[in-house]
Amino acid sequence: MSSTIIPAWTKAVIFDAYGTLFDVHSAVARHMAEIGPDAARFSEVWRAKQLEYSWVLSLAGRYETFWALTEKALDYAFARFPEVDRSIRPCLLEAYRNLDAYPEVQETLRALREQGLKTGILSNGDPDMLNAAVESAGLSDHLDTILSVDAAQMFKTSPRTYQLVIQALPVTADEVLFVSSNRWDIAGAAAFGFTPVWVNRLGLPDEYEELAPNAIIGSLREIA
Ligand code: LAC
Repeated sequence: MSSTIIPAWTKAVIFDAYGTLFDVHSAVARHMAEIGPDAARFSEVWRAKQLEYSWVLSLAGRYETFWALTEKALDYAFARFPEVDRSIRPCLLEAYRNLDAYPEVQETLRALREQGLKTGILSNGDPDMLNAAVESAGLSDHLDTILSVDAAQMFKTSPRTYQLVIQALPVTADEVLFVSSNRWDIAGAAAFGFTPVWVNRLGLPDEYEELAPNAIIGSLREIA
C-alpha cells in the first residue's frame, strides 16, 4: 500500500487522540437511555467545555490535568442539563477512560508501520488516561510513542506541546505527518511546521485559512 497523503521524506505519523483515534461521544452514546433526549447536546457541551478550559488555563499560565478538566466539564454539562440524573457521573467517567476507537484505527497504524514509519500520539490527555484508552482499544502494540502535553504542563496549541514530538523522536518538524480531527489542532500543527492532515469525518466547514492542512480526509483509511 502506498499513499499520496504522506510526503516521501516523512519519518513519523503522529495522531491526536480524542476525536481523532477515540470517539469522544462514545461515552455518552453508551448511556443514551439514562441521559434522555438531550444526550447529543449534553455530549457536545461536555467536549466544548473540556477544550475551552484547556485554552483558558494555558492563556492564563495555569495548568491542571486534562482528566481534571474532563471532570469539571462533565459537571458543567450536568449543571446545564439539570434533568439528567447525576448518579450516572461515575459511569460516564469510566466510559471516557475506555472510549471506543474508530473502527479503522488499528488497521491504519499497522499499515503505516509496515511502510517503515513510526507511529505515535500527541495528546492533551494526561499519561494515565491515555494509557487506559490505548490499552482498552487494543492499540498498545501499534504505537511507538505516546506523548502527553503533561510533560510541558501546557495544552495545545502551544508550540511547546508540538515540540515534545521533536524531543522524543529523532525527527525534524517537516518529517512529521500530524493527523487530527480537530481543526484548531491542525492550525497549531501547521504553525509549528508539521505536515498536517485534517480528518474531517463530519464534513465541517474549513477555518483558520492561514494555517491550512496539507490534506483533508474523511477517514484514517485514506492515509495508509
Ligand atoms: C487531544 C484533544 C485535543 O487528544 O482531543 O489532544
